Amino acid sequence: MEVKIFNNEQEIGEAMGQVLVDYAKANPKAVMGFATGMSPVPTYNKMVSEYEKGNVSFKDVTTFNLDEYCDLPKEDKNSFYMFMVDNLFGRADFSDDNINFLDGNVEDPEAESARYAEAIKNAGGIDIQILGIGTNGHIGFNEPADEFTDEAFKVKLTESTIASNQKFFGDVPMPRYAMTMGIGSIMRAKKIVFVATGEGKADAVKGMIEGEVTPKCPASILQQHDDVTIFIDKAAASKLSK
Ligand code: F6R
Repeated sequence: MEVKIFNNEQEIGEAMGQVLVDYAKANPKAVMGFATGMSPVPTYNKMVSEYEKGNVSFKDVTTFNLDEYCDLPKEDKNSFYMFMVDNLFGRADFSDDNINFLDGNVEDPEAESARYAEAIKNAGGIDIQILGIGTNGHIGFNEPADEFTDEAFKVKLTESTIASNQKFFGDVPMPRYAMTMGIGSIMRAKKIVFVATGEGKADAVKGMIEGEVTPKCPASILQQHDDVTIFIDKAAASKLSK
């Protein structure tokens, strides 16, 4: 793991956004895996600003998002699909035909998982995957568990995840289930760029980098991936031993 520590989230956005821009310039048909949540927003802003300057195009980039809520229409303002439209896809030249999401409203989650795995395979695999981390160490919605997962599956969200994300839904109770890519599907990405900011993530970041590799801290599996770059601010890095 290569760990890069920055002063603030703007600096992270500039640096991590540039990595994605450079990747798309060198590989116009790249397959990119995206995360939602607040952490990657400065990165997405950088990608948009480089697109607006005419420095990069994403029209031939294929995308796969990590996760999507269940029991929420795709066009709901709180769906992860709409999050990506608002923060990235709708602000640059991504093509609708190249955007892939898990469908959280299917009758048969196993069939949906198989469909997503096949789509990723047909695209040639994910070249570069963006990840954030939950305060409980989750990546995607792989919550702390007894075993590492493999392909996508339907997950019951933990109370800590609900506590973190309810704010986006205001007074409306947020979904209790989501479809998420599994740990195996995330680990098969060729390159991973990871972002976390703030003191609230410091324990999870320490567990991920310095802890035992265990499904109790799902992000710890990243220690076994051979191309991970960690973009964190000083607060998120504050519990690391060096
Ligand atoms: C969302 C996802 C989650 C988030 C994590 C951190 O697609 O994969 O694992 O990355 O919950 O969320 P933020 O960035 O809002 O703290």
